[in-house]
Amino acid sequence: MKTTALITGASTGIGKAIAYHHAPLGDLVLVARSMDKLSAIKKDLEHKFATKVIVISKDLTKSNAPEEVHEEIHRLGIKIDYLINNAGLGGQGLFHQRKQSADQQIIDLNVVALVKLCKLFIPDFINQKQGKILNVSSIASLSPGPLQSIYFASKAFITSFSQSIANELKDSGVTVTVVLPGPTHTEFSNAAGMKSAKLFDNAVSAELVAKSSYEAMMKGKVKALSGVSRLHKMIIALMPFLPNKVIGAYVMHLNKI
Ligand SMILES: NC(=O)c1ccc[n+]([C@@H]2O[C@H](COP(=O)([O-])OP(=O)(O)OC[C@H]3O[C@@H](n4cnc5c(N)ncnc54)[C@H](OP(=O)(O)O)[C@@H]3O)[C@@H](O)[C@H]2O)c1
Repeated sequence: MKTTALITGASTGIGKAIAYHHAPLGDLVLVARSMDKLSAIKKDLEHKFATKVIVISKDLTKSNAPEEVHEEIHRLGIKIDYLINNAGLGGQGLFHQRKQSADQQIIDLNVVALVKLCKLFIPDFINQKQGKILNVSSIASLSPGPLQSIYFASKAFITSFSQSIANELKDSGVTVTVVLPGPTHTEFSNAAGMKSAKLFDNAVSAELVAKSSYEAMMKGKVKALSGVSRLHKMIIALMPFLPNKVIGAYVMHLNKI
């Protein structure tokens, strides 16, 4: 059966790579702000695969944007099978020195838009008696994040929230997967002003993260790491036993530019 995936943040990076991963299997609704990039992806995907691609240019930090996306889907009569909440933004600096407007944007995109899209689409999925949600979090959700405090906290929210609703939706036919990628080569570090941060020294490809995230969603896994090195896995396993001071200092070192 042909399925349709709605992917936010599909104009670059991990979201774009997930779109290319899904395209041979079904149709797509791609959401981001850059219409030029979305249109180029649509043209390429429809040329390469037997897929129909709808593109929606939307700034998801605007208060009614998630509702407008949902309304547009209904207006077009599209049935969404997979909701992939991937759009996300970071930002580096001391919390007290960063502009509130910049931090607000991170919260509005990473947290508010993701929650609203889940709230809008879950009732549709329950009515359909099937649907899959993939929320893109980060390994940042597992530790304090000095110099990226709002970003790390936004991802901690996504990981906790996703696991909670995954439990609530047990036996409904709807699965919720939260994926925690490690550092990945995308536009993210540039957008966050962190191109020179040590954090991205051993970053993996967006295609690798997209593939393993998509597979975790298809298996209905609740939580999965993606593109995480052995060293990082070891550090993650040790984290509950380490003092906050030690983890904080290590993360701060990685987040420095
Ligand atoms: N890269 C990493 O190291 C890494 C690691 C762990 C987790 N992640 C997570 O992975 C996800 C994807 O990030 P990425 O690394 O692929 O970064 P990216 O290349 O910067 O992609 C971000 C995507 O989000 C879209 N976006 C940004 N602001 C938006 C807005 N206001 N409204 C709608 N769309 C918006 C961007 O498109 P437009 O600019 O066209 O709007 C773009 O398509 C994020 O949630 C990020 O937190 C990334």
